[in-house]
Amino acid sequence: MKKRESWGTHVGFILAAAGSAIGLGNIWKFPYIAGENGGAAFVFVYLICIALIGLPVLMAEILMGRETQRNPVGAFRALNNSKFWIAVGGMGVVAGFLILSYYNVVAGWALGYIVEAIKGSFFDYTTPAMAGEHFNQLVQTPVWILGYHLLFAGLTMFVVYAGVKKGIELGSKIMMPLLFVIIVILVIRGITLPGSGKGMAFLWVADWSKINGNSVLVALGHAFFTLSLGMGAMMTYGSYMSREDDIPSSALQIVILDTLIALLAGIAIFTAVFSAGLNPAVGPGLIFQTLPVVFAKMPGGYLFSILFFILLVLAALSSAISLLEVIVAYFVDEKGWDRHRAVLVMGTIVFLIGVPSSLSYNLMADVKVFGLNFFDLVDYLAANILLPLGGFLIAVFVAWIWGSDRALRAIKSGAATWFRQRHEVSAGWLSVLKYFAPVMIFVVFLYSIGIIRF
Ligand code: PHE
Repeated sequence: MKKRESWGTHVGFILAAAGSAIGLGNIWKFPYIAGENGGAAFVFVYLICIALIGLPVLMAEILMGRETQRNPVGAFRALNNSKFWIAVGGMGVVAGFLILSYYNVVAGWALGYIVEAIKGSFFDYTTPAMAGEHFNQLVQTPVWILGYHLLFAGLTMFVVYAGVKKGIELGSKIMMPLLFVIIVILVIRGITLPGSGKGMAFLWVADWSKINGNSVLVALGHAFFTLSLGMGAMMTYGSYMSREDDIPSSALQIVILDTLIALLAGIAIFTAVFSAGLNPAVGPGLIFQTLPVVFAKMPGGYLFSILFFILLVLAALSSAISLLEVIVAYFVDEKGWDRHRAVLVMGTIVFLIGVPSSLSYNLMADVKVFGLNFFDLVDYLAANILLPLGGFLIAVFVAWIWGSDRALRAIKSGAATWFRQRHEVSAGWLSVLKYFAPVMIFVVFLYSIGIIRF
């Protein structure tokens, strides 16, 4: 039997996992939901959710992967061979298909926008409405939308095809530093614009009146999405770690990097948006409709617009490969497929599942299920239902089913002294998984599917 693949270096794992976490969630979604939910006060709540729930669940996921050296289905099977828990792993693989299918579409838009930026298209706009019109025209052109969708799906397949070390790890080692450099350049541009202080104030001075039940729940839901939790992506990446690796410190580093990039993206975007005198609370169109106008007004905007959309594609690609890897690892571990076949067959299937999402803005705009178009339906199902449910079940599984003693012993192995030798820290981790995280996630879950409202 062939030896299972693994990471070449510890830093390779950290960059790949941070690459999974840092994605469209950080650069596209975080700024607009912060914008819609009142800025600083929301950011504060989000940070609490990340620290108190995101970090402990992230540790649990990586742990399950590292202990079993398996994909999500194999991991549950190895720890508890019951149909129910194996199905929970299977749900993660299904979520991988669904999330990647529409993630490819949005990332395709970003890819297309690099070309628009290079063409200088943004300089024709003076208002977000005009930029929005242009966006609508593009997404209503099937060739444009399917072409970039296919191109992005192909890029993702290319990286995963090359394997864990030579594809994902190498790719992350190139993409992540580049991403970091670009975001720092954009932050410097943002804070040196006239009137940027208003954007900073928006992010850092809390308006507590804007915080309500809804914003708390949006913050918790986003904490899951942004850390790639609830569907086994981090479990799969953890499965390529060695048993001696330090999970608590690694998880902490991943969380810090992810949060840092989200905050830097917020600074870069809000300083620029406020400096151009535009509205920060416009929702999902912030990046594709407001920012192009901001770039048109900004000194050096041509160059910065190209950099920005490259940043978006790099972030999206390093996340998309982790989604595809969950699916590929499943077929390699469980079905005995070879990696190349799994990537080609499954990558193509994911692309095909994404086609109706791509067409949701043109040919299939009128096809609605529960009042949602296909794109929104898949997004809703995956991000609002499958991820929180998966996160809930993973926390319950590790703390209650696999069991406290085994989980504690396992997580301490390889852990740095700050975790291993402080009983309150390791016991705290376990209590969060046992009580706090499941209860909080359960509340969010009921809220997000509309069973409770407050
Ligand atoms: N974390 C990614 C982002 O922020 C999205 C993602 C979710 C990736 C789940 C993998 C698994 O964009």
